[in-house]
Amino acid sequence: MPLIALSDDELRAGCGLKWGRAPAGVIPADVAELDFAVAPRIRAVLSAAVERSGFGYPDYTGGAPVRLAEVFAGRTLRLAGWAPDPGRVEVCAQVAQALCCAVLAFTRPGDEVLVHSPTYPPFLEAIRSLGRRPLLLPVGEVAGEGWAEVESAARLRLIVLCQPHNPTGHVFDRVALERLAGLAVRRDAVVFADEIHAEIVYPDSEFLSIASVRNVAERTIVFTSAAKSFNIAGLRCAVGHFGSDDLHARFRMLPWHLRSGAGALGIAATITAWEACDDWLDQLREQLAKNRTRLTEFMAHFTQVRYTQPAATYLSWMDLGATPFGSDAHHLLAKAAKISLQPGSVFGASLEGFVRFNFGTSEARLDSLLERFGRALEACGGKG
Ligand SMILES: Cc1ncc(COP(=O)(O)O)c(C=O)c1O
Repeated sequence: MPLIALSDDELRAGCGLKWGRAPAGVIPADVAELDFAVAPRIRAVLSAAVERSGFGYPDYTGGAPVRLAEVFAGRTLRLAGWAPDPGRVEVCAQVAQALCCAVLAFTRPGDEVLVHSPTYPPFLEAIRSLGRRPLLLPVGEVAGEGWAEVESAARLRLIVLCQPHNPTGHVFDRVALERLAGLAVRRDAVVFADEIHAEIVYPDSEFLSIASVRNVAERTIVFTSAAKSFNIAGLRCAVGHFGSDDLHARFRMLPWHLRSGAGALGIAATITAWEACDDWLDQLREQLAKNRTRLTEFMAHFTQVRYTQPAATYLSWMDLGATPFGSDAHHLLAKAAKISLQPGSVFGASLEGFVRFNFGTSEARLDSLLERFGRALEACGGKG
């Protein structure tokens, strides 16, 4: 199954958010979508469903969602080394929806929810809009001030772990996971792990699920989906596993229509992605590894850019605060370089100088993005 890079015209004609909202002449590298055609086997399954008008309700009592739970369990055992129980699996429309449900099911208004900073924006939104309080821990921190604050929190009920982490591409190691696990046990908190980026981890790092860490599995909920690595976010299908019957039962007390919603096409596409598209995924990983190297080498020329090579994901996080762009990096780059990056400000307070750069694109387009970036930086006096 070949990896096909789409042209600008094809991307603009599609209905993705990334290219759909980019003004003419601007190359978008913001929204977490890939610039590649979806794997041919997934497209074939979707075309076949269209041909037979397969748009009815999915049968949640014995049909595709049950099969999806089994496929998820088998894949997780094979690739991540722990064994989900298919009987404790839930299928939702989105991982972010599942997080909202977890906040409702396992916390009360005024409770504290631990998230790492910078924070994937829907997490912050979910926690705040539901009247809970985010407790921010700098990503990668396993001791120090942030930890002291977390340890002394009076109403910590839920720990949200984005592993691998968006936007930094950080992968938490065993020490960090055990630290979080210990905290969860001491405070009797539930862990919600969003592992949506776990399929894109570079060979120099190792992904470990917190569900496989001793003592914490029974209080852990893991959610994932094929949306990011197979580029099918618009199909809306997410899968989650509950570490105990009690956790599962508490989640299931929420109304079904609040915690479900995956449609037949999303379910069919996810099953195909996880069962039949590993060769396509390998090609994607190879391309992304090349892109990551290219990006790292390029950023090394700019001493004012603070950039750490991501260990996972096709997202990279960089601090441009010390460049002449200063805290207005995102706007200035859009204006001067005609490239659109995700502004750091949406990931938390005081992050205006940061941007998130999506390098999930063709080599040629990545070259154009970097050339524009470099030219704009040099034009305003940045140090090469
Ligand atoms: C960490 C993380 N979780 C969730 C999502 C979105 O997934 P969903 O639409 O299933 O909520 C993204 C998308 O970029 C993400 O990066």
